Amino acid sequence: MENQIKKLKDEAIKEIKQSKALAALKKLEVKYLGRKGELTKVLRGLHDLAEEQKPKIGQLANEVKTELEQLIKNIQIELEAGGGVQTSQPIDLTLPGQKYPLGHLHPLTIVQRQLEEIFSRMGFMVLEGPELESEYYNFESLNIPASHPARDMQDTFYIKDQPGWLLRTQTSNQQVRTMEKYGAPLRAIFSGRVFRREATDASHDSAFYQLEGLMIDKDISIAHLITAMKTMLKGIFKKDVKVRLRPGYFSFVEPGFEVDVSCLLCDGKGCGVCKKTGWVEMIGAGLVHPKVLAAGGLDPKIWSGFAFGMGINRLVMLKYGIDDIRLFMSGDLRFLEQF
Ligand code: PHE
Repeated sequence: MENQIKKLKDEAIKEIKQSKALAALKKLEVKYLGRKGELTKVLRGLHDLAEEQKPKIGQLANEVKTELEQLIKNIQIELEAGGGVQTSQPIDLTLPGQKYPLGHLHPLTIVQRQLEEIFSRMGFMVLEGPELESEYYNFESLNIPASHPARDMQDTFYIKDQPGWLLRTQTSNQQVRTMEKYGAPLRAIFSGRVFRREATDASHDSAFYQLEGLMIDKDISIAHLITAMKTMLKGIFKKDVKVRLRPGYFSFVEPGFEVDVSCLLCDGKGCGVCKKTGWVEMIGAGLVHPKVLAAGGLDPKIWSGFAFGMGINRLVMLKYGIDDIRLFMSGDLRFLEQF
């Protein structure tokens, strides 16, 4: 009996030491120490032994059991530390690891978030609005009469069989909505996709992104507008940017301006992007028209404000030196992976 146990022990130790995987080790544990395991069988057979043999054999069997349990535990720890490597080959730690492709933000989203942060710091709320819009908020409330060329079928996507509904052509659709909802004083920006029915080329797409800002308070002047524009541009381009105001017509502001930005690609010397002028047209802006304030339920004798709107695509193009607006929506990973 004694010899039988010792033989079992030697065999078990040999086998356990050779196991190279956790699963194999587990099997050996069952084989020797499990409920129907070989050592367990021996222990169960103890009561058939002569009375004087019982203590000695019993002790031996128990010692072997403890020894095997300890050995299995040690080998298990070793195998786990080896990261489950199941060969006896050494690991080459200098081999390059496997790279998993990581997703990232679209360049338009990157700049949009930067803009939102810049304006939040100036106390502006960040709002969103509907892309499907009524003629009232997109045009009428903005002092754009039915005869205005912007309402021509050529420019606007109207909704089939739904008179009075369209895809917004500008984020200005939010101006009167915001005044109605929040009253005055008011500081808000709203960005999003706008739609125009026009032929596409390197600088025009039928869907693009705008960011619009509206500030209403007492005694708002053009100086407030210029300061906000300069702060925004400095935040995006990380340097002082020169701006120039030219008179521009938008029916919902009076006076209205086109804000030009000194071309950052050529530093104002003149290049293809600024068409050799040194300036890039970027922002439409002005002081909110009294009729628009009134449409928003505000008394134009008390309140005044500025509004501006710009194409985010164009800003991103200037920031990164992108020469074709259609790349943004192309889904081309060779383009997108550069940001
Ligand atoms: N909505 C105008 C556009 O799309 C831009 C603009 C916004 C102009 C606000 C003035 C004030 O061109």
